[in-house]
Amino acid sequence: MNDMPVDWSKKVVLITGASSGIGAACALALAERRTTLVLGARRMDKLQAIAGKAKAIGSQVIIASCDVSIREDVNALVQSAKEQFGRLDVAIANAGFGLRSPVHLTSPEHMQEIWNVNVMGTWYVMAAAAPIMIDQHAGHIIVVSSAIARRAIPQMGAYAMTKSAQLSLVEAQRLELSGRGVAVSSVHPITTSTEFFQQASQRSGKRVDGLGKTQSPELVAGKIVRLIEHPQPELWPYSPVRYALAFAAAFPVLADRLIRKQFSVEKTNQK
Ligand SMILES: NC(=O)c1ccc[n+]([C@@H]2O[C@H](COP(=O)([O-])OP(=O)(O)OC[C@H]3O[C@@H](n4cnc5c(N)ncnc54)[C@H](OP(=O)(O)O)[C@@H]3O)[C@@H](O)[C@H]2O)c1
Repeated sequence: MNDMPVDWSKKVVLITGASSGIGAACALALAERRTTLVLGARRMDKLQAIAGKAKAIGSQVIIASCDVSIREDVNALVQSAKEQFGRLDVAIANAGFGLRSPVHLTSPEHMQEIWNVNVMGTWYVMAAAAPIMIDQHAGHIIVVSSAIARRAIPQMGAYAMTKSAQLSLVEAQRLELSGRGVAVSSVHPITTSTEFFQQASQRSGKRVDGLGKTQSPELVAGKIVRLIEHPQPELWPYSPVRYALAFAAAFPVLADRLIRKQFSVEKTNQK
């Protein structure tokens, strides 16, 4: 993978889901470095506010209404980078949402929606960005997955499914593009203080809370900036969880026991 010092002012970075949380924090962290930004999301008022701040800091910014579950929207966003700035250096597939529901009670509509946004939306970015980056013989595709990609927890099966699916796409594409100048990375945040839980609670019709240690979106964004400087296959913003999950994969019976204890599964299931 390319590990040269980054000339930020020459970089064009695309971010989906840039209207809040980790995506917005990435946009502002990159604006501090005068990076050129191509930002997409559905809520244009929020996106305009983030773009305004980034421009005030000194970045060139274009924004577009982009629902990542619509392939044409994602293609148009990616093409706008090429048309307006002649290149695309980094594409951050960040847009996504969470859902709390037992596997057997998840509605087909919710299952389809979370798949369309979190998985198809990510794949659309990876599929549209790759040809441009292959032509440039340079680029970096970054997918914001989750720590949950490596181990599902109760009531979050549908969400975890999408996050592990994202990781599979990243692992495959990284190898497909190795030797062609394009890095492909996944990011695995733990609980991060964003609108994520409010949005997930609204969709699930019940309260969704984070678990354990909480990080700020700014901390995650800072680490994503370093990932762009020094590409790695995976970024775990809170690294101890990475090793805990390797342990869980090796010892699934023990992992089930520990997770059951932590979540008081029996009690939750009776609700
Ligand atoms: N917060 C956490 O604890 C946590 C932990 C691990 C991983 N993550 C992942 O981090 C990513 C960012 O989440 P966040 O925590 O920053 O939450 P957030 O504040 O709710 O941000 C989610 C972003 O995704 C966008 N989005 C949602 N559905 C979309 C759609 N159909 N099309 C386009 N954009 C869409 C939202 O913008 P619009 O609504 O304006 O479209 C928003 O900008 C997600 O992939 C999430 O799974 C979050």
